[in-house]
Amino acid sequence: MTTPGQRKKALQEAGFNTFLLRSEDVYIDLLTDSGTSAMSDSQWAGMMQGDEAYAGSRNFYNLEKVIREVYGYQYIIPTHQGRGAENILSRILIRKGDIVPGNMYFTTTRLHQELAGGKFEDIIIDEAHDPESEFPFKGNVSLDKLDKLVQQYGAGRIPYVSIATSVNMAGGQPISMNNLKELRAYTSKHNIRIIHDMTRVAENAFFIQQREKGYEKKSVAAIVREICSYTDGATMSAKKDALVNIGGFLAVNDWHVFEEARNMVVVYEGLHTYGGLAGRDMEAMAIGIQESVSDDHIRARIGQVIYLGEKMIDYGIPIVRPIGGHGIFVDAKKFLPHIPQDCYPAQTLAAEIYLDSGIRTMERGVVSAGRKANGKNYYPKLELVRFTIPRRVYTQAHMDVIAESTLRVYERKARIKGLTMVYEPKYLRFFQARFQKL
Ligand SMILES: Cc1ncc(COP(=O)(O)O)c(C=O)c1O
Repeated sequence: MTTPGQRKKALQEAGFNTFLLRSEDVYIDLLTDSGTSAMSDSQWAGMMQGDEAYAGSRNFYNLEKVIREVYGYQYIIPTHQGRGAENILSRILIRKGDIVPGNMYFTTTRLHQELAGGKFEDIIIDEAHDPESEFPFKGNVSLDKLDKLVQQYGAGRIPYVSIATSVNMAGGQPISMNNLKELRAYTSKHNIRIIHDMTRVAENAFFIQQREKGYEKKSVAAIVREICSYTDGATMSAKKDALVNIGGFLAVNDWHVFEEARNMVVVYEGLHTYGGLAGRDMEAMAIGIQESVSDDHIRARIGQVIYLGEKMIDYGIPIVRPIGGHGIFVDAKKFLPHIPQDCYPAQTLAAEIYLDSGIRTMERGVVSAGRKANGKNYYPKLELVRFTIPRRVYTQAHMDVIAESTLRVYERKARIKGLTMVYEPKYLRFFQARFQKL
C-alpha cells in the first residue's frame, strides 16, 4: 500500500502513463489480463517437466496435440507471444495495397497488418461503437460493410477477414456463432480466408452458451471447437485465455501457409519447435489451454467481472454495456464530459484512479488508437478506461475496493483537468507516451 503523496510522485515520474509505473507502487493491478493470471498447481508441475532440447522438445509435441484436440487447427508454430504470430502471418498473407477487414482494430494486430503493407478496415456492427447499446453480440461483423469492400476493391485484394473473439477494444464483446456461420458462407463464396484472433475465445464461447439459442446445453469446450471450425487459421496470445505468463502461437489448416511460416519463424522467433519459448513454457501452455475451456473456470472468471460491473452500475458509473468478458470498461467521455478527446479523458481518468487508491487501469481511447498512415490521429468513438481482471488472482473484496475507489473519483469528477502529451513514440504510443497536467 502507498500513501497519496507517494502515488502523486510515482505518477509524475511515470508521465501520467500507467504503463510507466513500477509494479511495486501499485496496489491492485488491473492494467491488463495479459500474462498476469495465476498458473495452477498442474501448470507449475508441468513446468518441472520442461524438455529443454533445442529441437523436437517433447513439450512441443504435447502442445501440438492439445491445440489439435481443443481447437481443431492442424499445423501450429509457437511464438513468444501473440504479436510474434501476427508478424509472421501478416508478412505471409498481406501484399502492399491489400485491405484487411476486421471486427474492430486491435493495436498490435493492426500495426502488423500496416507494416506488411495492408490497410485495416473496420466492419464491426455499429452497435459496437455505442457504449450504451445492450446488443448481446457487439463483436458481430456487418456483412453489408464487408460486401461494400469486396465490391469496391475486389476479393483478390482482401487476403483475409480478421476476426477477434471477445473483441477487446469494444469492451470484451462476443461474436455470435450465427454471425460466424454467415461470414463463413460469404467468404467461402468469395474465396477469402478468415483469420481468428483467438486470444479470448473461451470467454466468447461462454457468452454464446449464455445468450445464443441452441447453445445453452453445449459445453464451452464444444463451442470453442465449433468457433474455430469456421476459420482458416489463428493467432493466439496465450497470456490471456490460456493462463500462462508468456507464450503464443500461430495455427493454420493450409499446409502451404504453414510451410512458409515454419521457415519465417526461424528468422524472428526461433526454431519451429520452440518459437521463442522454453520447453517448460510450452508445457504450461498445453495444460492452461485445457483448463481454459472448463465450464466451471469460465463461469467463475466471468462471474467475477460481472460482480464488479454490476457494482459500478449500481453506483451510477457509466460503463460499456453489456458487461464484457475480461474487464470493465468505463466510459470516460461520459465520466468526464468536460474534457475534450484531445485532452485525453481516458488517460486522465486512469491517472486519477491510480492517485485515489493505487489501482492501476489503462487507457483505451484516442491514445491507444494512434495515428493513421497520413499522420492524422484516429478519433475512436469509444474513449474508455479498461479495468482488466487477471484470472484466478483477486478476491471479491478486491472488487469492492475497486468499485468504491471509482465512485470516489466519480464524486469529484468536476474538478478533474485533462492532460497534454509531451512525448509520443512512433509505434504503439500508448505504451510509452508521456503526459503533463493541463
Ligand atoms: C485481442 C488481442 N490480440 C492480440 C494481442 C497481442 O498479444 P501479445 O500481447 O501476447 O503480443 C492482445 C494482447 O494484448 C490482444 O488482447
